[in-house]
Amino acid sequence: MTLAHWAAALEEHWGIKAELSRLDGEYDLNFLARDAHSQGYILKAMRPGCETWLVDMQVKAFEHIAARQPDLPCPRVIASADGRSLLTLPDENGQDRLVWLLNQLPGRCYAKAAPKSDALIHEIGEVLGGSAKALSDFRHEGLERDFKWDLMRAGWIRDQLPCITDPSRRSLLEEISEDFAKLEPALAALPNQAIHNDANDYNIMVAGELGEPRRVSGLIDLGDMCAAPRICDLAIAAAYIVLDHPAPEAALAALVAGYHAASPLTPAEVDMVCPLLRTRLAVSVVNSTLMAAENPDDPYVTISQAPAWRFLEGNTLHGGLLTARLRAACGLPVVDGAGRVMAWLEQERGNFAPLMGQDLAGAPMGSLSVEHSTWPQNPFQMPLEEAARVGEEFEDNGRIWMGYYNEPRLIYTDAAFRRGPWKASNRRSVHLAVDAFAPAGTPMFAPLRGEVYAAEYRDGHLDYGGVIILRHETPEGDSFYTLYGHLDPECLNRLKPGDVMEKGEEFCRLGDPGQNGGWAPHVHFQLALTTEGIEADWPGVGDPDEMYLWQSLCPNPAALLNLPDEKVRYRPTSKEDVLAGRRAHFGGNLSLTYKDPVMLVRGWKHHMFDEWGRPYLDAYNNVPHVGHAHPRIQAVAADQLKRMNSNTRYLHPAQTAFAEKVLSKLPDRFEVCFFVNSGTEANELALRLARAHTGAKGMVTPDHGYHGNTTGAIDISAYKFNKPGGVGQADWVELVEVADDYRGSFRRGDPDRAQKFADLVDPAIARLREKGHGVAGFIAETFPSVGGQIIPPKGYLPAVYDKIRAAGGVCIADEVQTGLGRLGEYYFGFEHQGALPDIIVMGKPIGNGHPLGVLATTKEIAASFDNGIEFFSTFGGSTLSCRIGKEVLDIVDDESLQENARVVGAQLFGGLKALEGKHACIGDVRGMGLFLGVELINPDGSEATEICSYVKNRMRDHRILIGSEGPKDNILKIRPPLTIEPDDADMITSVLDEILREVAAV
Ligand SMILES: Cc1ncc(COP(=O)(O)O)c(C=O)c1O
Repeated sequence: MTLAHWAAALEEHWGIKAELSRLDGEYDLNFLARDAHSQGYILKAMRPGCETWLVDMQVKAFEHIAARQPDLPCPRVIASADGRSLLTLPDENGQDRLVWLLNQLPGRCYAKAAPKSDALIHEIGEVLGGSAKALSDFRHEGLERDFKWDLMRAGWIRDQLPCITDPSRRSLLEEISEDFAKLEPALAALPNQAIHNDANDYNIMVAGELGEPRRVSGLIDLGDMCAAPRICDLAIAAAYIVLDHPAPEAALAALVAGYHAASPLTPAEVDMVCPLLRTRLAVSVVNSTLMAAENPDDPYVTISQAPAWRFLEGNTLHGGLLTARLRAACGLPVVDGAGRVMAWLEQERGNFAPLMGQDLAGAPMGSLSVEHSTWPQNPFQMPLEEAARVGEEFEDNGRIWMGYYNEPRLIYTDAAFRRGPWKASNRRSVHLAVDAFAPAGTPMFAPLRGEVYAAEYRDGHLDYGGVIILRHETPEGDSFYTLYGHLDPECLNRLKPGDVMEKGEEFCRLGDPGQNGGWAPHVHFQLALTTEGIEADWPGVGDPDEMYLWQSLCPNPAALLNLPDEKVRYRPTSKEDVLAGRRAHFGGNLSLTYKDPVMLVRGWKHHMFDEWGRPYLDAYNNVPHVGHAHPRIQAVAADQLKRMNSNTRYLHPAQTAFAEKVLSKLPDRFEVCFFVNSGTEANELALRLARAHTGAKGMVTPDHGYHGNTTGAIDISAYKFNKPGGVGQADWVELVEVADDYRGSFRRGDPDRAQKFADLVDPAIARLREKGHGVAGFIAETFPSVGGQIIPPKGYLPAVYDKIRAAGGVCIADEVQTGLGRLGEYYFGFEHQGALPDIIVMGKPIGNGHPLGVLATTKEIAASFDNGIEFFSTFGGSTLSCRIGKEVLDIVDDESLQENARVVGAQLFGGLKALEGKHACIGDVRGMGLFLGVELINPDGSEATEICSYVKNRMRDHRILIGSEGPKDNILKIRPPLTIEPDDADMITSVLDEILREVAAV
């Protein structure tokens, strides 16, 4: 009834014929109107008696924004056919209402958008800043309204605080309101202007397809506009952005920086954001408490307070540092006077007293960077014994050598450096000081006059030991600070806060590892422009993603050492340069994973590190089977390279030792090994052996398989030859449907599916015979991997093998992906099937990164191949390869990695299964041990290629490397090194859960 009435009004006055549906609205009638061309409108019929000025103000403000900043994503007012923006029309009860029409903006509200990325929040800031600019000259009598949501008038809550009955909450609000009272004079001195005044997360619209960055598509609802300093507008938006945000400081920095980019802020304004944000939240909770008293039956009123209390009581923001952070994010000085201090240091460079008592211009630099150094061997654990030797390669008879500023290092391994719950969470890795390494006892001299600000002993493992902070003053009266860490604590007996040190005065000495926190003797020399927020507890290293803050707060101290900045400033290899080089020198089809590729320079077990020391959980790479950088592999490789590395034309015990180890893992019929360089080469050889043994040429192989990159291997790899632009199917190759019982012809409910899939081999054999090729054999990845991490139904392979053998062929099991313990319960995939192959191919993991392939077969087949022509692979079976290969297999045994694959694999599988119940886009979770696949589907059950790509890229953003596979690339492939631990499995499921929620939010 109502809908029909307003649809008629819309047609009559605006000439728009549309379907209407009702939208939420507290007092007013709001409708979504959609015309025949799917163009959407918002028709607003205000409550009867609504003040005209209030609506008139909004209409005019929207029109003003459209005129001043047409690019801002704000709705447009649509005038009626006779040119009016605001009409008075009767509702179906005959009551007059003010009615107006806006165009509908795309997207959904920010509250329901995910992910709430810093880039999106930055854009919200920009849009809000843009709106403030557009409204700066907007005038309307309604702006001077007197109402409780005008932040300037927030003092009203003071008299209402008794309504908060919890004493600790009340005193928290008292404190906020006192802070606000202190701020009021400065706030009142700022110019007033028209502001939106309610950029909450329901008034910001967000659009963007999956896989595209989300963008702000609307700033709506000007119903709370008033005149106030623009910083109130930003603080109100900020108050909503931080609620329940996992990283509120970064989010605030993004918001404020975005606003600043559109509408530059002064440092004084930036400093007001945090107290005003807290004030706004205080107003909200007081207001809703009062409303709850008036409406005791409405639970919503109190529920809506919860996030604000969580934030206010949770002390979620680091107040002191936040000011510096927000200023730094805007490119403003972190503290007033910072620019003058830096200019003075620049002017005085060269005139400071030498810290180490000598000119450091010629002192060599030594890098401890993630890229150039292998300290520590285990980037998750720095033993004291290693710390005491850090950088020993740069030692030169006690000569001073220096460590870089801005250098990402892996030596900070303690959990205190971690920024999140997981081992692969970001960690503080970038050095904010310059080091000077010299023998313990080396004296140090104050570079300039300073007063002791702190003199302490920090006895923690790998802490500072003795540490002194001096406060200095420039001639203009600006202060700054210098820190000296890892000292002999003897100086603490003499120096107390307040003591003054003259320029050039000797004041401390380098400590030895027993005194300095455990490190090789050196001083950590750091500059800070303020101690606000860090006091005496300065972080010596920063998160690489927060360097905008740390470099502003703790700039390069080179000037104080009379050195040029460039000498001591570290510059990691630029990823962009490497990418450009790669594009210049490599073929275009050498593909890179991820929209934003990763450059990885270190690894340890199942983690890898990029050039900034950011850790990644490697849940994808099966080559580092026993883990990246395994010390036993390092040792055995180094040992053999010291001796000699030759080929199989000479005897060496390592060859037979390796062969015996491989064969010990196989059924008795396997007695002969061939050593080659890769899985590809092993499969090529398998083809030759099959042909030599059978005299036939034809091969049967499942669709979507992959066996290598050479001409012969490609011919049996449908995954390659059948791709657009592929070489196509050779006439001696017959494909059979892959035994996929999730999506294939025979599904899990069918108890005979194994036999039915196997029966598909019969016509393939018949065709090969017809063509005169005969049947040389059958080759399959035991569990098809590139086909989508498929586990064929039990009994499939034995049934196929029977048919192939009956046709005279041999059966080749490509165990490159599945072998060597990955499956947990089985050492090889064929064991699961109860099948006995004739030839087994191993690759990838068997060398743990060293190029190595192995083919194992029977004496009979090997004899057929032994036709008088030498078989020789120059590097295949080299001494080095044999030693590494055997070591890998020994490590799998010694470290019980197969068992680990079983246990952690089962845990991971269980976690993924639990997600399957939660997320409609998970069609199937399958796999065994650490060979797992998650098939993603669209609502209609089809392959969700786009979602898969989105998830893979977002997992990378969250520091987890996984892959994607399947003919439609919609299966997440999880295949980590066998060292993965239970916590890492939890990380994978927890992050995947979060990302799949984002998928649902699009
Ligand atoms: C099942 C299978 N076989 C063979 C190969 C080829 O191995 P390589 O690339 O080491 O030559 C691969 C490589 O991905 C594979 O997955």
